[in-house]
Amino acid sequence: MEKLTDLQELLKHELNDLYSAEVQLIEAIPKMAEKASNKELKKAFTDHLKVTQEHKKRLDEVKNFFDMEKVEETKGFFANLFKSKEGEEHCKAMEGLIKEAQTLMGEDMAPEVMDSALIAAAQKVEHYEISSYGTARAFARQLGFEKVYDILSLTLAEEYGADDSLTALAVGKLNRKAEIGEKLPGVKPSGQEKTAEPVEGKNTAPKKTTKTAKKTTAKTAAPRSLAKKVSKPAPKKHTKKTAKKTNRTSR
Ligand SMILES: [Fe+2]
Repeated sequence: MEKLTDLQELLKHELNDLYSAEVQLIEAIPKMAEKASNKELKKAFTDHLKVTQEHKKRLDEVKNFFDMEKVEETKGFFANLFKSKEGEEHCKAMEGLIKEAQTLMGEDMAPEVMDSALIAAAQKVEHYEISSYGTARAFARQLGFEKVYDILSLTLAEEYGADDSLTALAVGKLNRKAEIGEKLPGVKPSGQEKTAEPVEGKNTAPKKTTKTAKKTTAKTAAPRSLAKKVSKPAPKKHTKKTAKKTNRTSR
């Protein structure tokens, strides 16, 4: 990589990185959709593929924006914005995240467990993108490129949206299905163990006060119809206690 001499150079680098990340994702998402068993999860991946293609187009738009409005006054500086030496534009972080997802997809898992694993892998990708778009737009604003800031903000909001949708699917029902997995009907699901401290932005359950937990349990606990489908319902007393303990919401 060439020496980066100022923030503008760093923005160029970040945009190249993002472009490479989106290109790699466009190739990876269909494989994740194919591997998903749950229809809603499959659809979430398929929908996000379209969104990701749009993100790539927006990055092209950023390039055009610089070409159209800045080339003249900067004597060609921005014309070279997306040009880089071989290998510079390849996002190794995204390559690693995708490789990890591919390894997971090659493991022997119950379909329900695979769905949760796919969500986990997809959320790692989303969090990387959220971080990268957030940083790039902050650089754009610092440099006074408000249009670029706005374009990147649109994408950033959609990355947050995708992350929230995955969280809703995970804690809404798919983690519950994975929890039961291939256990025989009547076998109690685990989950009474103390859970790890939640991390904001992950699909783990944030701690709530008892008051809040009572309010939101109806929205976030696994639907009764689901429990009936996948296993015998847990005893009433246990279900109530667990629901309060593991009340889950998105970010
Ligand atoms: Fe994206």
